Amino acid sequence: MEKKHNPEGKRPAQPSGRRARNDAYMHIPAKEDKSQTMKATIATTIRNAGFEDAGAIYALIKEHPREVVPRAISDIVQNIDRFLVCEARACPSSARGRIIGTAAWQILPEIGKALNPSIEIKSVAISGHYQHKGIGSALVKAIIKRIKRFHPAQIVVLTFTPAFFRQFGFNEVAKETLMHKLYMGCINCTKYDSPFTCPEVAMTLAVEKK
Ligand SMILES: CC(C)(COP(=O)(O)OP(=O)(O)OC[C@H]1O[C@@H](n2cnc3c(N)ncnc32)[C@H](O)[C@@H]1OP(=O)(O)O)[C@@H](O)C(=O)NCCC(=O)NCCS
Repeated sequence: MEKKHNPEGKRPAQPSGRRARNDAYMHIPAKEDKSQTMKATIATTIRNAGFEDAGAIYALIKEHPREVVPRAISDIVQNIDRFLVCEARACPSSARGRIIGTAAWQILPEIGKALNPSIEIKSVAISGHYQHKGIGSALVKAIIKRIKRFHPAQIVVLTFTPAFFRQFGFNEVAKETLMHKLYMGCINCTKYDSPFTCPEVAMTLAVEKK
């Protein structure tokens, strides 16, 4: 990520008045402004989401109806502590930026003692213009780091883009091995009559046990 977006290796100053962030910083080239000869630079921050981000997260998810399962705004609000966002600011010192990417996680159910707990990565969405700039990778890496603090046995993802997740160590598995995920998410699916005919690929990343 840094190699692409933070050639100076500098961490932009944090705007005052905002809550503390434990984030990565990177610079990405902004959309080319045809009235200018030089490309502008945008500072991006990956941070925990707050309630003020719920509307932007909702819009980002809606931008990708084929790949990302829609989520109601009330669902996003109730789970806001499980979302990360990538915020872009035209100027590092500006107080408020634009939310250009998001990713979330969810703990899957376990019966009895949590002997084999799984956490799912979901709602990964990057705004169209900002794709292929390393933002999705930065968000997924940050969310994996966060999830690992809970010491799950594995991290799970159902995705149309297995190649993207393979680079983080995810491997394809049979959907039958993730019945808890299927009951949690797929049971109310209106797109496919069975998770086994759904083209999404199930993948897991094993986490070293504590
Ligand atoms: C898939 C997605 C999250 C990737 O985020 P991104 O910021 O565009 O990805 P990155 O720039 O970090 O990609 C790094 C590498 O991942 C791989 N990759 C990225 N998007 C990919 C895709 N759609 N399919 C396969 N591989 C992909 C590529 O190897 C890429 O390197 P490259 O840009 O040099 O080709 C983003 O494109 C997106 O929001 N897509 C629509 C929604 C979606 O599919 N979400 C995933 C649902 S689980």
